[in-house]
Amino acid sequence: MHAVDIGFSPDHFPQVHLFSYIDGALHCEGVNLESVADRFGTPAYVYSAGTIRSNFQRLNRALDPLDRLICFAVKANSNLAVLNLLAREGAGFDIVSAGELFRVLRAGGRADRCTFAGVGKTREEIEYALREGVYCFNVESEAELERINEVAGKLGLLAPVAIRVNPDVDARTHKFISTGKSKNKFGIGLDRAGDVYAKAAALPHLKIRGIQTHIGSQILEAGPFAEAAQKLLALVTEIKNRHDIEFFSIGGGIGIVYDPALASGDPAWWTSTDHPHRITTEDYASALLPLLTPLGLRILFEPGRFVVGNAGVLLSTVQYVKTTPAKTFTIVDAAMNDLIRPALYEGWHEIVPLKKPSAPAAPMDVVGPVCESGDFFAQDRELPPLAPGDRIALLSAGAYGFVMSSNYNSRPLLPEILIEGADVRLVRKRQTLEDLVAGESLTGDAA
Ligand code: LLP
Repeated sequence: MHAVDIGFSPDHFPQVHLFSYIDGALHCEGVNLESVADRFGTPAYVYSAGTIRSNFQRLNRALDPLDRLICFAVKANSNLAVLNLLAREGAGFDIVSAGELFRVLRAGGRADRCTFAGVGKTREEIEYALREGVYCFNVESEAELERINEVAGKLGLLAPVAIRVNPDVDARTHKFISTGKSKNKFGIGLDRAGDVYAKAAALPHLKIRGIQTHIGSQILEAGPFAEAAQKLLALVTEIKNRHDIEFFSIGGGIGIVYDPALASGDPAWWTSTDHPHRITTEDYASALLPLLTPLGLRILFEPGRFVVGNAGVLLSTVQYVKTTPAKTFTIVDAAMNDLIRPALYEGWHEIVPLKKPSAPAAPMDVVGPVCESGDFFAQDRELPPLAPGDRIALLSAGAYGFVMSSNYNSRPLLPEILIEGADVRLVRKRQTLEDLVAGESLTGDAA
């Protein structure tokens, strides 16, 4: 990927994405984002296909010595065009609902490359996934094992299962996205796992296919991944010997850089090992390969954010600037319903104007129009002067952006645009006001 020049310190993200200023105008790959905003309006999500492809390939290459399958976590970005692009790159998919499986199939992905995760799979979802032939159910409780066995029995099928094991490690990430501690709702404890496998083996309509773990998201060090793998090694070997499994899935969770202040402009920063605030594919691979290679199993990875996070931006237009004795509020046309990460996880997204700024920065809050104080994108952030009509991009919004959006305040869902080189595709239309009320009626149908 070529070096990019973005934000207020050029070359902050030399290996991360294909958004850059060209002649003072923010571009995605070869396309001026002002022209995209003119054509499709704002707010709008824009994705760089080249960035997605490059991230996927970089990770895949780093893991080359392994018999592996990268199952993209569909929850991070489930647009059909994005899934299709990844399917063509050879990705499998990590899904958590019937809806995600439906999307993968619609996008040209294969069910036999899908793992089905999640603590609350319903009978209907299990049946759908079984009929479509998913690669494996990652099972989170004994009750779920029994349910999958029962549904498979009714259909006369054998259900492939793996147990999600909770290794009780600290992923050192935000508490809402940490999943591998014993206090979290996920998986089965290490001490119980052997017994649960024995139980699975005794159920007639199950086929034990693997073992899985996942410790959390936005993890910026290799250490917790290695710790989880290390803690599971003995169990994985035991389960392999006892139940002849095919795969071990280490889950997702590789973090990305959101804040350029944490990044160094020095290209060596990106390739040096053991640096805080960022993890490279090399760090990840060199921590895990020595542990995983000797297992002699197929290794599954479930990255979401790493593949698409830095590959997307949310375009927005300044509506008003309101100055109070305490603050300057820049009010934009995007809101918390479009990108909820700041409100929900104190998520930090870099904000850059589409026209490269020359004036000095001053502190301001960037807020949306929704009637909640949590509706902000930045607080007391140093940004260049912004006036009504100016357009901005909220960076690194490609993961958990559109997918977590809602119609709150009766705001239509945004369009999604996929750019590759000079090619611009509207891959999801903006909802209309009519779409907002589709399916509703004044009185309902009489029962
Ligand atoms: N596998 C499992 C079982 C997961 O639960 C997740 C994410 C992933 C893979 C993918 O994790 P990733 O590689 O994207 O970190 N909405 C939050 C993140 C929630 C993550 C939930 N599970 C956010 O915006 O930060």
